[in-house]
Amino acid sequence: MTNSTIRETLLPFAQPDIDQREIDAVSEVVASGWLTTGPKTVEFEKQFAAYLGVKHAVSVNSATAAMHLALEAIGLQRDDEVITSTFTFAATAEVVRYFDAKPVLVDIHADTFNIDPVQIEAAVTPKTKAIIPVHVAGQAADLDAVHAIAQKYNLRVIEDAAHSLPTCYKGRLIGGISDLTAFSFYATKTLATGEGGMITTNNDQWADRCRVMRLHGMSKDAWKRYTGEGSWRYDLIAPGFKYNLTDMASALGLVQLSKLETMNARRVAIAAQYDTAFGGDPALITPVLTADSTHPYHLYILRLNLEALTIDRAAFIEHLRQANIGVSVHWIPLHMHTYYANLYGYQPEDYPVAHAVGMSCISLPIYSKMTDADVTDVINAVCDITTRHRAG
Ligand SMILES: Cc1ncc(COP(=O)(O)O)c(C=O)c1O
Repeated sequence: MTNSTIRETLLPFAQPDIDQREIDAVSEVVASGWLTTGPKTVEFEKQFAAYLGVKHAVSVNSATAAMHLALEAIGLQRDDEVITSTFTFAATAEVVRYFDAKPVLVDIHADTFNIDPVQIEAAVTPKTKAIIPVHVAGQAADLDAVHAIAQKYNLRVIEDAAHSLPTCYKGRLIGGISDLTAFSFYATKTLATGEGGMITTNNDQWADRCRVMRLHGMSKDAWKRYTGEGSWRYDLIAPGFKYNLTDMASALGLVQLSKLETMNARRVAIAAQYDTAFGGDPALITPVLTADSTHPYHLYILRLNLEALTIDRAAFIEHLRQANIGVSVHWIPLHMHTYYANLYGYQPEDYPVAHAVGMSCISLPIYSKMTDADVTDVINAVCDITTRHRAG
């Protein structure tokens, strides 16, 4: 690494965009004495639903919880099958395993890293109940094709939209398109509340079921039992979960929602700078955009063309770390992990596209708090590594 490309301090891989407004909003909640689910959460749900143009937004404490409750709401049973992509985070498939059901993994498109609908149809069996398309990095999967298959075989569609706030698919915001949609507000996400998530749906029955099951299976509005409006009476209608969102998180969420478009614009601008800097380099493959979806760039996933380099991906990452650039990998595909390989007997090459992408991708820092100098540091470090380790 040349001295000119080494930063003095580490550029974190991700950082939330927090300013005084969030600090004040959370302080106000703490000072109010109402710490758990309450009026701020009700307001956050209302504004979130209005922003996406969807009937119901049900807050929970993670996208994992959101997907779990969505599957519960559609009545997933033991030994049922749910089709999703192997190129995703642990949560997407683990929620299926919570039911002793089977996540049926399929391969992805090499350009967008999103689920390949042709492979979905080939994986449908009489046991299939649902499809969970994941919008990798935020760019929407081919939802029209997914819905056509779902309609043909009477399957439910639950979108893993952990990365897709905000994403427009064919002019419509992700959140009101499929049966149910799950969002994440984890600390690194495009709207961050530390931990948090949301289920959106236009279906009254599923929304009600999620509301009940996120708080122990208690009959409606159970949180109100500690307020003047509430009653001490409650009824348990099922063994639910403890997945409710706190008012402290919702206060953060409300401010973040008001900043969403501004934060998004900054990430899109950074992506454009990366595209320009890396686009002409045969050693680097920049994100491929589709005409159907906007890209919110929760992640900027760069593929390395390892044949054009003398170093492997691990060494590339090590060089970036030495240059004080935070970097990550999204993802090691699910079928390559011990649990799924042991349970279903997968070999790494069973999903050739996901395997190839999973072995050659890196995620670069992209968040609204990055300064122009930070962006230049990332570009210089990446270009320095490719220049010094070019094959041939
Ligand atoms: C694609 C995807 N789905 C789901 C999740 C889980 O989100 P959460 O941490 O809010 O449960 C993540 C988290 O990183 C993710 O990347």
